[in-house]
Amino acid sequence: MWTRRQFLAGTAALTALPLPLPAQAQADSSGRAPVVLEARQRAMSLLPGSTTPIWTYGDGQDWPPVLRTQRGAPFRATLTNRVTEHTAIHWHGIRLPNAMDGVPYMTQPPVEPGQSFAYEFAPPDAGTFFFHPHCNTVEQLGRGLAGVLIVEDAAEERRFLADHVVAIKDWRLKPDGSFDVFSTDKGAARAGTFGTVETVNARPHARLEALAHGWVRLRVLNLDVSRLVVVALDGAEGFVIATDGNPLPPVPLKTWRLGPAMRVDIAFRMPWHSVRLQNVWGSKPELLAEIAFIESALPAIGAMPQLAASGVTEPDFENAERLRFDLTAGHVSPELEAYLRENKLGLDALCLPQRTFWAINGKSWSGQDHQLKPPPLAELKLGRSYIFELFNGTPHPHPIHLHGHTFRVLRSSKDEIVPHLADTVLLAPKERVEIAFTADNPGMWMMHCHIIEHQETGMMGYVTVA
Ligand code: C2O
Ligand code: CU
Repeated sequence: MWTRRQFLAGTAALTALPLPLPAQAQADSSGRAPVVLEARQRAMSLLPGSTTPIWTYGDGQDWPPVLRTQRGAPFRATLTNRVTEHTAIHWHGIRLPNAMDGVPYMTQPPVEPGQSFAYEFAPPDAGTFFFHPHCNTVEQLGRGLAGVLIVEDAAEERRFLADHVVAIKDWRLKPDGSFDVFSTDKGAARAGTFGTVETVNARPHARLEALAHGWVRLRVLNLDVSRLVVVALDGAEGFVIATDGNPLPPVPLKTWRLGPAMRVDIAFRMPWHSVRLQNVWGSKPELLAEIAFIESALPAIGAMPQLAASGVTEPDFENAERLRFDLTAGHVSPELEAYLRENKLGLDALCLPQRTFWAINGKSWSGQDHQLKPPPLAELKLGRSYIFELFNGTPHPHPIHLHGHTFRVLRSSKDEIVPHLADTVLLAPKERVEIAFTADNPGMWMMHCHIIEHQETGMMGYVTVA
């Protein structure tokens, strides 16, 4: 399989350090023509013997599309909408100007069918990011509208010999390959409506390769709208080297939880046998990726390549303002609840807007769009540091995402926290978590659960920074 020419190319990589090419479609936009992203329907085979009319930005049979760009360099991408409803692109985790954040009605007009929108920003951080629509997301992302954005740091001296994307996403399909309904009340009011076909890189699992003795980087992304995974490595000693794209001093990997939207970069040295990335969330481990070894003449020594430092400003803990955010069901206050109990009334007596199951600080913002905007959850002062105390008062987990900022996850009432930077933090039922950041990016920034049905049925809000 592995020809002599490829082998030499692989060995040469050790000294010349070019980037290994991932299997997915890719583009490098720095200083070049804008990346063209056409959101359109394409037929893809997800279930044997059938095709599915997915929506994708990609132009081939590979999913997800993977873009690469350089840290600090202008990145340009033009979205053209060739689907049947309005859309936009949110660049998840990128600290970009508010006008490029891709939230229809809030930061830009919706991109109607046939229209285009030009995004341009210079990503300030290197790492593993992704992009997706921010309207009717349960359906648009559910149909496949998402892509991976890898930001490279030109200053990094040594690269990983193998650098692979592992993108987890399930699809809600009927047996004939067509899409089933994307959301159900039962799912939205509980842990989410789950896909029927589980995939990694749109296959049952990813099949990857790496040169024996070389350092491997797996960029694991949970792109699903509902599902939680707990990743673990079998067959090699793994290290967590980045969380939501942000580097951290390598931590030995035991297991790592990924709620929807969360990413983890894992490094390991390829042994002379295959390695498996598994989801150990359920009772028996589930294969996510199999990494096969390629015989090599590489020496067994050599340190792990180091990632360039993060550019995120450390918060000023001494002067940080503390704000509390309670994640709860509906928008029923304890007083209201008592009143309902006393008067033997049901929830329906409240005449809540349809499909409002969740709230942040007692306020629900539901809907698939952001046209009718409530007051902000908080008004933050530009340049000031904040500690957000998040409390999950529900029996379901919630991955909470804040736009435009990268925060430090400080502590949890449940777990010993590995200090790390993130844009999304997962809260287990009854868990209290503290995150801290400097509000250094002016604008209106969404804060919501990334179990998309929770977002669209109330667990959504925004903060202002001015
Ligand atoms: Cu990845 Cu507001 O979203
Ligand atoms: Cu949630």
